Amino acid sequence: MFEKIDGLRADFEQKLKAASDARELENIRIEFLGKKGSVTDLLKGMKDLSVEEKKSFGQQVNDLKNEIGDAIAEKSACLAKAQLEREINSAPDIDLTAPAVLDRGSYHPITLVQRECEQVFRSMGFAVEDYSEIVTDYECFEALNIPKHHPARDMQDTYYLTNGQLLKSHTSAAQNAIYKKYRQALIEEGKPIKAVFPGRCFRNEATDACHENTFFQMEGVMVDKNINISNLIFFMKTMLSGVFKRDVKVRLRPGFFPFVEPGFELDISCLICGGDGCPSCKHSGWLELCPCGMIHPEVLKAGGIDPEEYTGFAFGLGLTRLAMMKYGIKDIRDLNSGNLKSLSQFTQDC
Ligand code: DAH
Repeated sequence: MFEKIDGLRADFEQKLKAASDARELENIRIEFLGKKGSVTDLLKGMKDLSVEEKKSFGQQVNDLKNEIGDAIAEKSACLAKAQLEREINSAPDIDLTAPAVLDRGSYHPITLVQRECEQVFRSMGFAVEDYSEIVTDYECFEALNIPKHHPARDMQDTYYLTNGQLLKSHTSAAQNAIYKKYRQALIEEGKPIKAVFPGRCFRNEATDACHENTFFQMEGVMVDKNINISNLIFFMKTMLSGVFKRDVKVRLRPGFFPFVEPGFELDISCLICGGDGCPSCKHSGWLELCPCGMIHPEVLKAGGIDPEEYTGFAFGLGLTRLAMMKYGIKDIRDLNSGNLKSLSQFTQDC
């Protein structure tokens, strides 16, 4: 009986030595210490021993049990350590100084186009101004030669606040404030007024692929002595060539806007077909891009500038339109959709 204990110990030691992973070790534990394991089996033969022998045998079996338990725990720790070392050694090189790869956002296509336009105008000496989205009826219409009940208001229905203010329907609404801000420097120091003011505009519109109730424009004005239509054409052409990164052909057609006289629709030669005619330009070879004109004397007067002495031009560039053309976006609603999958494909990382 007693020699069985030594036999089992020798057997265990041999098997333990050979075990090379946690799974094999667990099998050994079950084989020796499990409910039906060989150590438990040893106790079953005890009934034939004398009381004295039982005591000593039981003690030795218990010692063996503890020995096996301890040896398995020790080997298990050894194997785990070896496994960890293997994993560390086989891991690919990690550069701890490399920047973290984050899921970064991207600029909105309109932001990109707006910044590009701003940069071109800055390089031509224009100030970039910010103006509020909530304006008065005076700023949005009256100061722009659009009195109450003028039919031009029909095309610019917008959202009215209970206090009588409204969400601006065009960036022209900032013209009056810009003239007032810069008129002193113009009159006293002879500094021409040159400013662009991009902004979000609102109209009460039914939406479809070409119409949105929220869109972006960039207004620009230049006022000085002897400003004429050639100045307007020069600045528009330079700006558009800068944005499209190539020489752009432009043409002017008459257009009516109460705040300019004369007023024009500025077209650019179609960038897709080069002017030959294609579906994008409705086979005309031209794309309508920017309404503009010579600032109406009444508008200058409302801004505190004498129209007998000064003249100027103004334009209202459709930034949303420009972004759609530049990036080939067919549905205007994509721009306000907040759909990152669709928006991020047109843009570069921040
Ligand atoms: N504010 C006009 C609109 O949104 C666009 C416009 C036309 C602006 C002619 C101008 C301009 O500055 O000269 O319909």
